[in-house]
Amino acid sequence: MSVTILGIESSCDDTSAAVIRDGILLSNVIASQSVHEEYGGVVPELASRAHQQNIVPVVDAAIRRAGIDRHDLSAIAFTRGPGLLGSLLVGTSFAKGLSLGLRIPIIDVNHLHGHVLSHFIREKEDDTVPEFPFLCLLVSGGNSQIILVKSHNEMEILGKTIDDAAGEAFDKCAKVMGLPYPGGPHIDRLAAEGDADRFRFAKPHIPGLDYSFSGLKTSFLYTLRDAVRTDPDFIEKNKADLAASLQKTIIDILLDKLRKAVAMTGVTQVAIGGGVSANSGVRDAIARFCAQKGLKAFIPQRKFTTDNAAMVAIAGYFKYQDHRFCGYDEVPYARVTI
Ligand code: KG4
Repeated sequence: MSVTILGIESSCDDTSAAVIRDGILLSNVIASQSVHEEYGGVVPELASRAHQQNIVPVVDAAIRRAGIDRHDLSAIAFTRGPGLLGSLLVGTSFAKGLSLGLRIPIIDVNHLHGHVLSHFIREKEDDTVPEFPFLCLLVSGGNSQIILVKSHNEMEILGKTIDDAAGEAFDKCAKVMGLPYPGGPHIDRLAAEGDADRFRFAKPHIPGLDYSFSGLKTSFLYTLRDAVRTDPDFIEKNKADLAASLQKTIIDILLDKLRKAVAMTGVTQVAIGGGVSANSGVRDAIARFCAQKGLKAFIPQRKFTTDNAAMVAIAGYFKYQDHRFCGYDEVPYARVTI
């Protein structure tokens, strides 16, 4: 019998709903919130309010675009955390209410599992997916982790950031340059026209597979502060070279630990996920690294790199197969690891 899962994602500032039937994506609707742009970051209270406005039309559109009736659903998967508590509450409460109305189970999904499992979203029967075990470099606004993925439901964090995430490094340095939030995509665009070897910024010396990006942020800030003292137009004149050099440094830091993790584990497949995996330089570097080492690279389509409900639905689909449902007394959690 077919298994049809509705996924709901509301952990930060995207309200999203998706339908997956037997592992194949039927719809994926995302309503992004522009209300935060003028504040230079996500404002939690405004995010929750926008989720409340968006959730009914987004779920309705996902069901309609999937060409199904809501009574065809087998279960509802929702993001339980990590994320902003008020935002998570909207998706969690909606999932509970709809599941009670339809008399179908609910499945809680760890947002980070969702990012990793986005590589298993298939749009056609013959789409290739990774084989276990593989490594996933998960790089987003809140996380930078190297994860050993042993099965759909079993993952081990081998390394993680001890301070800022890679996305924060992009966003905070972009802010120093006066670029809008989130700065990552702006750095990406500017970097394409710049000289990546023009400026050098600090790289961390952290043992093992953990990351650190706070030193880079400070070094970037001090370089710009000192240069602007002598030339007030320094940033404007050098923005493409600054962006390219910053991006290269972040990629070098990411690749250094990934290289070690591949050597330690002996895996033959490497995947990337999370918002920063949309970055052109990161994508190229991973593809080149894997080609050199004879590894198979899994680079997600850009629409599956940032927050989306398709990854929640696919994670829910695998939990459904293991009969791992959750009770109505389960509440969202703002912080949680994999
Ligand atoms: O996974 P995600 O959507 O959610 C959070 O974890 O918050 O990741 C958002 C992050 C932001 O820091 C954003 O600047 C970064 O992903 N990002 C990028 C690019 N697109 C999104 N960073 C660099 N280059 C990009 N093209």
